[in-house]
Amino acid sequence: PGSSDFIVVSNRLPVDRVSADIDDAGWRRSPGGLVTALAPVMAAREGAWVGWHGAPDEELEPFRHDDMDLIPVALSADEVELYYEGFSNATLWPLYHDVIAPPEFHRTWWDCYRKVNRRFAQAAASSAAPNATVWVQDYQLQLVPRYLRQLRPDLRIGFFNHIPFPPPEIFAQLPWRRDIISGLLDADLIGFQRPSDSANFLRSARRFVGAGVKASQVQIKDLDGKTVHISRAAPFPISIDVAKIAELAVRPDVIARSKQIRADLGNPKTILLGVDRLDYTKGITHRLKAYGELLSDGDLTVEDAALIQVASPSRERVESYRLLREEVDGMVGRINGQFDTTSNTAIRYLHHSYPVEEMVALYLASDVMLVTSLRDGMNLVAKEYVAARGNNTGALVLSEFTGAADQLKSALLVNPHDIDGLKSAIMRAVRLSPGESSRRMRAMRRQVLSHDVQRWSEEFLDTLQQEAELQ
Ligand code: G6P
Repeated sequence: PGSSDFIVVSNRLPVDRVSADIDDAGWRRSPGGLVTALAPVMAAREGAWVGWHGAPDEELEPFRHDDMDLIPVALSADEVELYYEGFSNATLWPLYHDVIAPPEFHRTWWDCYRKVNRRFAQAAASSAAPNATVWVQDYQLQLVPRYLRQLRPDLRIGFFNHIPFPPPEIFAQLPWRRDIISGLLDADLIGFQRPSDSANFLRSARRFVGAGVKASQVQIKDLDGKTVHISRAAPFPISIDVAKIAELAVRPDVIARSKQIRADLGNPKTILLGVDRLDYTKGITHRLKAYGELLSDGDLTVEDAALIQVASPSRERVESYRLLREEVDGMVGRINGQFDTTSNTAIRYLHHSYPVEEMVALYLASDVMLVTSLRDGMNLVAKEYVAARGNNTGALVLSEFTGAADQLKSALLVNPHDIDGLKSAIMRAVRLSPGESSRRMRAMRRQVLSHDVQRWSEEFLDTLQQEAELQ
């Protein structure tokens, strides 16, 4: 055993390379709520984080950063292709997101997924102190609870799935469905975003491994009918670092930058904003279609309403992402070619990722936030927009197929497949009276401000502790 009492395992380490320095100075904490929520727990509990450092074919020694022990797991270029781009992002990702893109099933990808999951489990097993807590994150690592339990039966193991869990009718397609379910069931607590995700998982546990399910409890019995294993599956909707966003939203330089953004666009009456990883689950083409039709119908002009679309580069070596990029590039080009004027643009399309300061300036600059995912585990952008709108202005158009829709009930909820419905929701948002906009925003802010990511991690870890004590 090692000496860490609390270990997080995720596909990526929570740091980005900023220079070639091999020590601490070469790294910066990556943006994102998960690490913000967990860093204090790590510092207080002698914590370690196990994950890939992002560079293929590179072995790195463990190092310290931000009061955390970071334990890099090496992946060869082949493993990046088979485990990460292949099984994680061309099998599981589309399968878990309503098969929006067709999932591919390849035995070589699966073999590599198992091999790499075992490596992550071994790294965690050798760093964990006796009876330590290990928290495994997301769909790339669903077999880690199983391997970890085999190596270290003493550990308390939690798992959280950040993306949706599909209904058994779709999950059934996976040739290795039983292995995945049993792999997860070796965790004491399995967390999901929405109640429907956790219900889907429980139905699959019953159907594919014959588990007994009572409320949120899952029991596995041996042939004599003796209960040999118990775990629990329940929803824990994730959130954002509310304090950080709220603090940036009142910083003078960020406010100045938001005014500059409006001016640079020719001060249109309304700015619409979309912020996504360039992913086919996000409904970017549906959003562009709706906006393009509103311009050609004459309901909007480029002087009335410009769209800023941030699409950050993602998984660019995976085929369906390459195809999506071509499609989006083409649509943006056609719409801008038709509607831009010498002084105004229809769509300001930004294929970049930005620091959080710039994101908050964009949230402040925009009157209408468009979140039109076809399927999304949570969608944190929706929550960040709400957290940034301290003066209770602005409107959120939100797909009902996001986890965030469970919490942000005062958003203008849409079915993004219904282009006419999406167009009317956009028009409604553009025309929302100040009274209604403020009433809706206040209600959403009450929810987001009282449920930050800190609270999310505490609730998960408290439940995990109670669950482990029961056994
Ligand atoms: C989603 C997943 C995360 C993943 C992130 C970025 O939010 O739930 O596990 O890290 O996308 O994707 P990437 O493949 O670049 O890590």
